[in-house]
Amino acid sequence: MNKCRIVIAALGGLLIADAARAETIGFAQVGTESDWRTAFSADMKAEAARRGITLIFSDADNNAARQHEAVRSFIDAHVDAIVIAPVIVTGWKATLQAAKEAGIPVFIADRAVDASPDLFVARIAADFNLEGRLAAAWLAQATRGSCDVVELRGTEGAEPTIQRHKGFLAVTSQFPNMRILRSASGGFTSDGGKRVMADFIAAKDGLKGVCAVFSHNDNMLLGAIDAMHEAGLRPGHDQLMVSVDGVPNIFRAMLAGDANMSVELKSDIGKYIFDVVQGYLAGRRDFPKWVLIPSDLHTPADAAAMQARHGS
Ligand code: AHR
Repeated sequence: MNKCRIVIAALGGLLIADAARAETIGFAQVGTESDWRTAFSADMKAEAARRGITLIFSDADNNAARQHEAVRSFIDAHVDAIVIAPVIVTGWKATLQAAKEAGIPVFIADRAVDASPDLFVARIAADFNLEGRLAAAWLAQATRGSCDVVELRGTEGAEPTIQRHKGFLAVTSQFPNMRILRSASGGFTSDGGKRVMADFIAAKDGLKGVCAVFSHNDNMLLGAIDAMHEAGLRPGHDQLMVSVDGVPNIFRAMLAGDANMSVELKSDIGKYIFDVVQGYLAGRRDFPKWVLIPSDLHTPADAAAMQARHGS
């Protein structure tokens, strides 16, 4: 009789302990290539701490192979769930299959994979194609549909690069006098943006006839602005400067007259991600496959307010 009570008590204790036990979640992050990425990482760590989650954080430094290694190590560590911000879209089938066979749910954050949807629970991310369309629509309105553009592309093979370019073209193709003259990758970094812009300036005719610069993120645009200043050009005046992210430094550039528009990509998305992950671990199954993060658009008109919001 007593022995049986002890077992039940012990079992009871275990169940309570198990229920209260904080989740251990592996997070495979892209790297530190931009101000946005750094802010996103900081938000994930802070939100995990707020919720008592043990977050195993890995930085792939934009190396896809290293990211797969990190996910495999999470599987070996028997984490409760895995969150991946994929460096690139392709090559995920085997790794996601391994997580599934280990019974570990996977959530895709920020970017996307081209693997079968049954290999992950949900994607929590903004609409990168919409961001490209918003940038082109703003430019079409600002130039009455007549504008030759040079484009700073992000990391090749990454979802934001693919979709921002597609979205931008989807709108500019409606305007016979709008076209992309040159397009090259700056890898989402300031140095990369500066290097690509220096090449564009050094190329035949330089920026002659160029009405705008469309950058896949703010950091590359900020690098391009530096290159244009060094070449004695007037970014924001002779060329309209348009990008994506909405990081504090782009509002500084807007107030200095060097930048004209940025589509905001929210970086404080930890709450959206962990709501889905913890909800799923608690048994919820009513999530859409794509949990959409809303976008926004900013110009010099609200740059001061955005700086205040960022506390910068
Ligand atoms: O995946 C989102 C993109 O990744 C951001 O726009 C960019 O800053 C980062 O490198």
